Amino acid sequence: MLDRLSEQHNKRFDLFEVVESTNDTLRDEKYHHGDAVLALFQTKGRGQKGNSWSSDKDQNLTFSLMLEPTHIKAEKQFIISKAVALGIYDALKHYGIEARIKWPNDIYVDNRKICGVLIENDVMGTTLLRSIVGIGINVNQSQFPSMDVNPTSMQLEIGRELNCGEVFGILYSSIMKRYDSLINSDIDEQYLEKLFRYNQEHLFRCGGKTFNATIKGIGEHGELLLLTDEGTKSFQFKEVEHVI
Ligand code: BTN
Repeated sequence: MLDRLSEQHNKRFDLFEVVESTNDTLRDEKYHHGDAVLALFQTKGRGQKGNSWSSDKDQNLTFSLMLEPTHIKAEKQFIISKAVALGIYDALKHYGIEARIKWPNDIYVDNRKICGVLIENDVMGTTLLRSIVGIGINVNQSQFPSMDVNPTSMQLEIGRELNCGEVFGILYSSIMKRYDSLINSDIDEQYLEKLFRYNQEHLFRCGGKTFNATIKGIGEHGELLLLTDEGTKSFQFKEVEHVI
């Protein structure tokens, strides 16, 4: 399946039994725009905010995709997060799963996390040299260790087992399609339309304090704009989180 996809897209897709992190494996200079590294198991899978990412062997998809967005200014790098999140949204929709994007780019179904994204950007001056887009999506796992986020999987959502190779193919095409149409699309609007709890008052946490606020938008550099009791405030990633 992977060989066929690789031929179809004319890109390099390498599948490894075990790696530390696919994001690191993809850093090899033999990989270029559109190439991907997949692993059946990662021993040091990384998540956002310094967390680890664990995934049962053979059950899910853990892969990294190389983008070389040299036409995008470094200060506009959040646009890559938007395109990737919308591509994942589209792929899940293909399977009949209606997801939401939890800022900045977690993918949720109702209150449950189905997919995590870790994007590592290499910047030189004002240019975005490459984006290593790491994706962990729960495909067939049905039992999870107790964690602080509520996990779900594609299988739990649609009630049947899926072929991970096929899911990779759909995800790959959906993300590349969103990426390729970035410049001509109204991506900001589309991202907001799919945003988890957009325009709804909910509980947030910042620096150990919880408060009610409403997401009103996303700033130019990807910051979250929240309407609080003290007016509209902007928050950087890691500064604030949803209380689910
Ligand atoms: C998160 O939700 O915290 C992000 C999780 C990202 C996990 C993926 S799995 C493939 C790639 N390799 C890694 O080490 N991390 C990402």
